[in-house]
Amino acid sequence: MDLKSQINTERLPRHIAIIMDGNGRWAKQHGKHRVFGHKNGVQAVRECTESAAELGVEYLTLYAFSTENWNRPALEVNALMALLVDTLGKEVNTLMKNDIRLQAIGDLEKLPKRTYKALLDGIEKTKDNKRMTLVLALNYSGKWEILKAAKKLAVKAKEGILVPDQIDETIFSNELSTVGIPDPELLIRTSGETRLSNFLLWQLAYSEFYFTEEFWPDFKKESLYTAILDYQKRERRFGKTSEQIS
Ligand code: IPE
Ligand code: IPE
Ligand code: MG
Repeated sequence: MDLKSQINTERLPRHIAIIMDGNGRWAKQHGKHRVFGHKNGVQAVRECTESAAELGVEYLTLYAFSTENWNRPALEVNALMALLVDTLGKEVNTLMKNDIRLQAIGDLEKLPKRTYKALLDGIEKTKDNKRMTLVLALNYSGKWEILKAAKKLAVKAKEGILVPDQIDETIFSNELSTVGIPDPELLIRTSGETRLSNFLLWQLAYSEFYFTEEFWPDFKKESLYTAILDYQKRERRFGKTSEQIS
């Protein structure tokens, strides 16, 4: 039986988050510059997005650029920002064809103007699409997001809009950039690294983690199916005992 037909569509993760890692090492393996790896990562984004939507996944969040990634050589950062402009422009058609809505999380206003504009254009054009939401994490940092929420709540408390004691998980998560989006049930990281690198620290509190050795440009729809099948074998206990679940 092929991988796709083994997936139980009744038990799909509603939200999958992916740390797309290994573009640089993929390029090196092919004797090319790191930027070549990023360019080849784009088709993996397309394939993964289309197959997630086709399966019925509701949200797909892709970590595309962290706040720490500014520390890379300027040539690579500039190439990545230009690639984003190019890809966003070209792939809007793919998103429209697949009825996918684009959203973004991160400190977006600090992106270069052209990248920011291409992003806003894509979000605007796809805003009425319904099948799946694709969230790009750009200039994103989990700690930054939590600090921002804490500051907003502090201001609200100071202004008397709420009392500190009222602050619960719902009120807190309403201040995060993922407001309205359910927490990911499944986190995937490619390239063999097994760390979070400041991604969705709050939202991944109870997610299942799946790590694969594959570099991001090699990640195909079968890789996504394999990750989902692995997820479906797991028992999510949320602190309870196995007997309580079954
Ligand atoms: C992921 O691949 C893409 C970004 C972080 C933008 P990397 O560029 O981190 O590739 P490696 O980890 O150096 O191989
Ligand atoms: C994490 O990958 C960020 C993205 C995938 C955008 P990195 O390659 O930047 O992570 P570290 O620095 O190896 O932890
Ligand atoms: Mg990396």
